Amino acid sequence: MNIWDPKRIRAEFPIFQHHPDLIYLDNAATTQKPRSVLDAERDFYERNYANVHRGIYPLAARATQLYEASRQKVAEFINAPKIEDIVFTRGSTEGINLIAQSFLGPTLQAGDDILVSGLEHHSNLLPWQAICQSRGAHLHIIPFFEDGTLDLQYLDKNLGSKTKLLALSHISNSLGTVNPVAEILTMAKAKGVPVVLDAAQSIATHSIDVQAWDLDFLVFSAHKMYGPSGIGVLYGKSEHLKKMPPYQLGGEMIRDVTYEKSLYAAPPKRFEAGTPNAAGAIGLAAAIDFLQKLDRKAIFEQQKILLNYATQALMDIPGLEIYGQAPEKSGIISFALEGIHPHDSATLLGEKEICIRAGQHCTQPVMDFYDIPGTLRVSFAMYNHEAEIDELIQGIAFAKQKLGAI
Ligand code: ALA
Repeated sequence: MNIWDPKRIRAEFPIFQHHPDLIYLDNAATTQKPRSVLDAERDFYERNYANVHRGIYPLAARATQLYEASRQKVAEFINAPKIEDIVFTRGSTEGINLIAQSFLGPTLQAGDDILVSGLEHHSNLLPWQAICQSRGAHLHIIPFFEDGTLDLQYLDKNLGSKTKLLALSHISNSLGTVNPVAEILTMAKAKGVPVVLDAAQSIATHSIDVQAWDLDFLVFSAHKMYGPSGIGVLYGKSEHLKKMPPYQLGGEMIRDVTYEKSLYAAPPKRFEAGTPNAAGAIGLAAAIDFLQKLDRKAIFEQQKILLNYATQALMDIPGLEIYGQAPEKSGIISFALEGIHPHDSATLLGEKEICIRAGQHCTQPVMDFYDIPGTLRVSFAMYNHEAEIDELIQGIAFAKQKLGAI
């Protein structure tokens, strides 16, 4: 039974009024924006815009109040103990770089260990790789099996007294695996290892409670949860944030500045140098309101219905192979067509207004594991429905025919 009405929700997204035939199946890359998010940003610029935390005139006070109200909303959304634990960033990538430099930077030493899941996006790999290389620390990659599930025995064996951090994503962006975060956290906590969870691919469908999971750090991006691009969130436990030096230096992150020395503000301001993306934060708050009016569990269930429907239909196509068949998957499917480069078929699908991503999905080591140059990836959001998958399947047949691979 269909428990969700994607066609009704489509009306909330102006892009589909401008492009009625658009079949947008690239939601793991970024989601489309509902009217309420667009209106919130526009309204801020039209009625309440000034720089935040600077002017003392009423317009600036209103802008600051709206920016900080957005922070409060984010704190409630993930059940952070304090509003000060929420740092606005440009997105998950910046959050992870910040943790690498400000949390690990001051203490990581030669011989220390960092554990990172093998399923990671480059943004949750490169910052750890670079800091390990610069300090002579060891980067241990948690291997994964053919079906895209992590080797938890390896993880358990390698968590030790020298492990300074474990980083992993909740949901793999290229394979769709939903990692067993609760189980992994139990293992890490038993050894006292701090954990960074990248919720970029899960925040739109899963409610995350940072206290229930006792997370040290959480990062996510607004643009993958129907919010604006260029804004994201880093949650950090106060005990960590308090000790961390700033990541960037500049205006509004200071307590006292002289030519000789400067003192920095307390978190979160310490980590928000320069004029922040206040309109983005306000758009993010509107995206949270939008999601909270809906039922994220029902949205996820609908995505699983689409996942099963599309998986069955794709498996019936001769010469098509699906990569990543974990028992717990989100609405993401990676696949390849025998004898056809993913870019060629994605280009032909694009001509039919079917938008899917092709390539390595910023996970080159995952593609290397399967010994392939890349995949085609479809990823679902709340506005997708079965008829779009039927069109996709027809589009793939067309691409195969056109590219001479029937
Ligand atoms: N990280 C994004 C993706 O998976 C851009 O496509």
